[in-house]
Amino acid sequence: MDEPAFERTYGVFRTMSPTMIRLSPMEAEFAKLMTNAWRYLDFAIANQFYTLLQDSGVDFFRVMKAVIHEYPRAAGFKKPGFCAGPCLVKDTRMLVTHTQQGFPMGSAALTVNETLAESVVNSLSALMSSSRKPTSTREHPFTGKVIGLLGMAFKANVDDFRSSLSYRVKKVCRMKGAVVLCHDPFLREGSNGGGSTNCVSVETLLEKSDGIILCTPHDCYRNVDALLNGNKPVIDIWDFLASSKAARVPELLPGTRQVSAGPKTGTDAGGGEEKPTVMVTGSAGFIGGYLVQELLQHGYRVIGVDNFTKYGKVEREYDTNPDYELHQGDAKDAELLKKLAERCDYVIACAAMIGGISYFHALAYDLLAENERIIAATFDAAIHAFKKKTRKDQDGNPQSRLKKIVVLSSSMVFEQAAIFPTPEAEIEKCAPPLSTYGFQKLACEYYAKGAWEQYGLPYTIVRPFNCVGLGERRALRRQEGEHLVKEEEVSFGSIKLAMSHVVPDLIQKVLKGQDPLHLLGDGKQVRHYTYGGDLARGIRVCLESPAALNNDFNISTAVSTTVLELAELVWKKIHGEAKPFRWVSDEPFKYDVQMRVPDCRKAKDVLGFEASTSLSEILDELIPWIGLQIQLGNM
Ligand SMILES: NC(=O)c1ccc[n+]([C@@H]2O[C@H](COP(=O)([O-])OP(=O)(O)OC[C@H]3O[C@@H](n4cnc5c(N)ncnc54)[C@H](O)[C@@H]3O)[C@@H](O)[C@H]2O)c1
Repeated sequence: MDEPAFERTYGVFRTMSPTMIRLSPMEAEFAKLMTNAWRYLDFAIANQFYTLLQDSGVDFFRVMKAVIHEYPRAAGFKKPGFCAGPCLVKDTRMLVTHTQQGFPMGSAALTVNETLAESVVNSLSALMSSSRKPTSTREHPFTGKVIGLLGMAFKANVDDFRSSLSYRVKKVCRMKGAVVLCHDPFLREGSNGGGSTNCVSVETLLEKSDGIILCTPHDCYRNVDALLNGNKPVIDIWDFLASSKAARVPELLPGTRQVSAGPKTGTDAGGGEEKPTVMVTGSAGFIGGYLVQELLQHGYRVIGVDNFTKYGKVEREYDTNPDYELHQGDAKDAELLKKLAERCDYVIACAAMIGGISYFHALAYDLLAENERIIAATFDAAIHAFKKKTRKDQDGNPQSRLKKIVVLSSSMVFEQAAIFPTPEAEIEKCAPPLSTYGFQKLACEYYAKGAWEQYGLPYTIVRPFNCVGLGERRALRRQEGEHLVKEEEVSFGSIKLAMSHVVPDLIQKVLKGQDPLHLLGDGKQVRHYTYGGDLARGIRVCLESPAALNNDFNISTAVSTTVLELAELVWKKIHGEAKPFRWVSDEPFKYDVQMRVPDCRKAKDVLGFEASTSLSEILDELIPWIGLQIQLGNM
């Protein structure tokens, strides 16, 4: 390369990379070939050991976890997995050809990685034949069987199907007599995109298949095996699915420490896997507290953004968790959110100005204007990150990995509904809300639909109904004698955090001796008091479930309670039967919706989600805590 050519090339690349090293063209070409071939060999080592151990009837992952446990030298040990795509295979092959077979390690890696497909199909065949009557030896092992393949892209969470080994798996299954069904979140059902036919929904695939192979560990499959309940054979060479992962953890001897989850190696063409990352705006809020905890407990990294305007800086149990990164910032700052969203797999739009019913009246304009700016900035950021996904870096990896936005709407979008319980589909039929808060929440849903229509950004809309709790699931502490007991004192969370809802408000009035108890209106308002921990689980399920894609869900308890019933329950829990329940009615607010009753069947049928915490259990948690705060003079 002559100097002018070098200068021109340098001019282009210096805009992309802060550091550059000058090599001759031959050196540079070898640098690239060597890097890709080395990584390909790395994956081949894992794949070779995997096949070797499985063929010997030994669970590779249990052995691997034991090997890498607290052994830093083994930190780079790759996990097995299909290793394909446009770069690694091609460059290894190029070196083999260039050296005229003088690269035996490369040749061996090609054989190992490419024939993993056959090996995996054989494992499934063995698993299936162990559970059925012997057939004629001439019969193909999969004759009359349906095999489901999850994931057709060449690696996780991308829409790139080039040289994907999923298609080789498919071919081998067919040669063995199977009918093959496929699913990939990036292929439309019934399509033949990426060379795939028989693309069906995940639900159909799980229902119709006799055996299943997880070919590509897209995040949306993480809990897919829970739907199967262990009823069908599944091959998971990635150690990715929740149940197989749990079953494959070797036991440590008593008195020794927990098995580490293994090295964090980053998402790769081969086995490595990085924790999926979720940005939660309004993470320091009431629902945010439960949500962050739920996500961390289920293996996510969380990037929280909050400006602390609502409660100030609230201490949380998970503040020191290395997987939690909290940014003090404004969710209206689109540039901040864009930078953060680029590092995320999911965005959950949770931040909003929200308060008790008096807010709706006192701050009618601010709620609309502020929340509109917050949601616009959040969507701008998500769209920005999602668009970057299609741009590739020099390794062919997408520059971003955002898959979906989850939007927290509200039951208030059904302010004018006339059908109870109100199903999700009613959103298209009932009149828009009268309150500016409810109207803006409806606008959030339109943002989601608009971003999908114009930019293809996938979404899920979650409609919570009257969330109740302390703002954080109370920790369970193991005490001497191995009894699990609730902490006596909640040292985290602020009082404001717990008090901004009707349930704690009534509790404190009764605890302070108000008699008769003052209720807003006639107490006939019907609500569904949903525990924050249940709601957080529902949001996580919405984030993960393939069936939640571009869908909307009422996430709530199915149990109706009138405000009067709630008040009486609180009264009886505090005063017992001794003191007769007495109450008076105060003038209600204008936007005090009488019926807020969700139809919860869709979440149950489609997602398998049901809220499980009763109002009585919620009160048993809240009453002692509020009592303690009153004693301490905090309220
Ligand atoms: N709590 C419920 O019962 C309920 C019901 C339906 C819907 N929702 C929705 O759920 C979401 C969370 O509600 P919540 O009850 O946790 O509210 P919350 O007020 O407890 O939490 C909201 C958080 O957002 C933060 N925030 C507000 N404006 C911000 C900004 N400009 N930049 C950064 N952070 C900001 C606040 O500081 C607060 O920590 C909201 O979108 C709300 O509309 C809540």
